[in-house]
Amino acid sequence: MTTSDILRIVHIIFGIYLAGSYLFIVPILEPRLRRLGAAIHGPVMSALMPILTPINGASFVIVVGTGVALALSSRAFNSLFATAWGWTIIVGLVATLAAIVVGFGLLTPRGIRMDKLGRSVRGRAPTPQEGRQLQELSAQVETLSRVNLVLVVIALGTMVAARYV
Ligand code: HEM
Repeated sequence: MTTSDILRIVHIIFGIYLAGSYLFIVPILEPRLRRLGAAIHGPVMSALMPILTPINGASFVIVVGTGVALALSSRAFNSLFATAWGWTIIVGLVATLAAIVVGFGLLTPRGIRMDKLGRSVRGRAPTPQEGRQLQELSAQVETLSRVNLVLVVIALGTMVAARYV
């Protein structure tokens, strides 16, 4: 087994984990929790986020690291900008980097703000201003999560299609 094979296996395992976690959380878990109400949604997300954020962050680092190493070690690397394979991989790379920016630059800070606000109103009714803030943050988190799901699916789709284009 070559180094390239090992890189490929690690890349695929972490890529599948990342895509799978987004595909499960955004269209299935999140909407169900939302329907169950803030009293359940808030605590479940608060329990998940401290573990999901570092695991997904590390998985992105591994996927990008092994992905770039795979691209560099590929015989087709010299013609990266001249082949359909190369362009497909570049689109996947850009989608992955965009997912990292959206996920960790925009989503995580809003999630933390929501969590803090949610904890501060626990046991009492939120003031109208707090209620509005919570609603705004929740709507932004929902939209950004969908954007991230689309980006991760684009990354996955391009990777799987690369060898056939
Ligand atoms: C969330 C992001 C990503 C996911 C889910 C993902 C997933 C995958 C999967 C499943 C494969 C195997 C495809 C196959 O054998 O048919 C693959 C291959 C590959 N990935 Fe990624 N990947 C991601 C990000 C990246 C990034 C950022 C790079 C960096 C350039 C990259 C570079 C590659 C390369 C070069 C291959 C080999 C393609 C080939 O054999 O033709 N990937 N990826």
